[in-house]
Amino acid sequence: VIDVRKLYGDTGMFTYDPGFTSTGSCESKITYIDGDQGILLHRGYNIADLAERSDFMEVAYLLLNGELPTADEKAEFIHTISRHTMVHEQITTFYRGFRRDAHPMAVCCGVVGALSAFYHDSLDINDPQQRMIASHRLIAKMPTIAAMAYKYSVGQPFMYPQNNLSYAGNFLRMMFGVPAEEYVMNPVIEKAMDRILMLHADHEQNASTSTVRLAGSSGANPFACIAAGIASLWGPSHGGANEAVLNMLQHIGDKKNIPAFLSRVKDKNDHTRLMGFGHRVYKNYDPRATVMRKTCHEVLASLGIKGDPLLDLAMEMEQIALKDDYFVSKKLYPNVDFYSGIIFRAIGIPVTMFTVLFAVARTTGWIAQWREMIEDPQSKIGRPRQLYTGLTERPYVPIHARK
Ligand code: ACO
Repeated sequence: VIDVRKLYGDTGMFTYDPGFTSTGSCESKITYIDGDQGILLHRGYNIADLAERSDFMEVAYLLLNGELPTADEKAEFIHTISRHTMVHEQITTFYRGFRRDAHPMAVCCGVVGALSAFYHDSLDINDPQQRMIASHRLIAKMPTIAAMAYKYSVGQPFMYPQNNLSYAGNFLRMMFGVPAEEYVMNPVIEKAMDRILMLHADHEQNASTSTVRLAGSSGANPFACIAAGIASLWGPSHGGANEAVLNMLQHIGDKKNIPAFLSRVKDKNDHTRLMGFGHRVYKNYDPRATVMRKTCHEVLASLGIKGDPLLDLAMEMEQIALKDDYFVSKKLYPNVDFYSGIIFRAIGIPVTMFTVLFAVARTTGWIAQWREMIEDPQSKIGRPRQLYTGLTERPYVPIHARK
């Protein structure tokens, strides 16, 4: 028997909390969630107000600096971000090392991690100026990196950023524009994209943000930490859910197949889940899903898409699930990912880019959380313990005697 006092100190006690369902890992002033009420605040501002009345640049500034910017501060922030939108020209060569059919999340993980090999003047985490430059670089370059991943996959030339455009507009042009033609911006799509970015900007200590903090707790540079966050976001239980929702709806195909699909979801031996439903913290409607649902209708109406079969299917699924005992008893509601995929599809974003867009938005939250951690005098290297269930010490067996 192993003496736990030797492992876990004199009290012999430690908390064992798989999935960290009730373990706080840090103090934070950035984002507040009341999961029972379905409330999300950034620096005290309600997400619904921000989504309705602000824009992504203001929310990014708010997350990073703690206050909404004045008009002058906002103009200066936008100027700073737009100065950093280009990537080092050598990075274009880096892209060419990837297969054209690589998943863009794989490409983004690699390229963002590689930024630390290109921007040596913003790697010193102990220098506040360098921390700020790295933050601005990451926020500014993510849309460029994401759009380049798409352009590479379809074999089109990379588009350079155009800095007089909005953050969302610039991304749309780099995605869908071609060098020989003027890109015509649809203001409804631009606004919807900006709103989607706002809704995904931060969400306290989710898996990817905790990954960024844990990676950063060892003193790793910010580019490496954000690459770690992208890797964690990719999974279908987290940011990868938006891609999974669309694949699921396409697989179900028709409203008449919903009951059969839901029976599979409810079957304990079948590991099918209703993607875009459920959340570790929200036991009520995800407030972001409410805004997303409204935006979805606005976008489809403005594009003249009437009776989109996938949207109809999604709405029917939502209505059935919200009344179904299984989902009611487990407090499973639609989350932010349930509707975002339908908007992305309507805009023409390919399914494999859905989670990349989440990463573009969340970079702001990740970097704000990373900076808060570095600046917190209490913070130390993250080092969880484990409940060891293996063998106790035993004699070494030489190779000739092993069976
Ligand atoms: N479909 C069917 N059943 C579900 C779902 C779902 N989407 N989500 C949870 N459940 C059930 C589980 O089977 C479990 O049932 P049990 O108590 O009978 O075993 C119970 O609800 C609790 O589920 P857990 O997995 O323990 O809850 P957890 O908090 O660990 O998981 C998660 C949260 C991962 C989001 C989960 O709800 C899920 O897998 N949802 C689908 C994927 C998804 O949409 N992810 C996006 C989340 S939002 C974001 O990251 C941006």
